Amino acid sequence: MIDTHCHLNDEQYTDIDEIVNNYLSVGVDKVVCASSSFSASVKAGELARKYPSVYYTIGVHPDEVEEFDINKLETLVKNASNKLTAIGEIGLDYFHNKENKAEQKQAFISQIELANKYKLPIVIHCREAYGDTLEILKQHPAKYGAVMHCYSGSLEFAREIISLGYKLSFTGNVTFKNAKNVKEVAQNIPDDSFFLETDSPYLAPEPHRGTRNEPKNVLDVAACVADLRGVSKQKLIELTDKNAIAFYKFK
Ligand code: NI
Repeated sequence: MIDTHCHLNDEQYTDIDEIVNNYLSVGVDKVVCASSSFSASVKAGELARKYPSVYYTIGVHPDEVEEFDINKLETLVKNASNKLTAIGEIGLDYFHNKENKAEQKQAFISQIELANKYKLPIVIHCREAYGDTLEILKQHPAKYGAVMHCYSGSLEFAREIISLGYKLSFTGNVTFKNAKNVKEVAQNIPDDSFFLETDSPYLAPEPHRGTRNEPKNVLDVAACVADLRGVSKQKLIELTDKNAIAFYKFK
């Protein structure tokens, strides 16, 4: 099983050997370490060099747009190992900041272009910015694929994203009792349109809610989505692994 999005590069993890052993011991054999800043991208690359099971992304999150520098980022991508699987997480976040929309959009578009140049898919962070995200994706398609990570939007928006050929991924938030919308999306989208993640150390799924999350808990996300779709956990994991491999093309 693959955890397609975790932040092993987060400073909350001071015990990475143990975290890696924890997920390997429950059958999670690959994780994608997602980056949100320049320094997190460097650290993700180091972790991918150290641990065979770790793949990674490079990117600047909309919350970190002030440090965005496309040349600096391109140098990192150019010198990356073949375990670099995507550009991300990138996108728009109007929940944390509505004052710098223009800068956020510019950084998002530049990073889509960077991904296209290096034939990589993108990992999108979107918070309270669905309309603008969709508009940018229509005008600047991600030619090698895109995933709306930690999906929490409507079923209608999910269908629009899927109609553009893009994917969704679900985190622990699908397991929360009050997450009616996300559950509805997870029940109603096509088999080939999604995969699973933890976004750890954040968003621990039930029954671990409120604790520091880690990649091994992706199995709880799988159990929940399997229930919602009325299939066995094993079948669901086979499906989402197949989708994740087609998207990230792990080398
Ligand atoms: Ni994340």
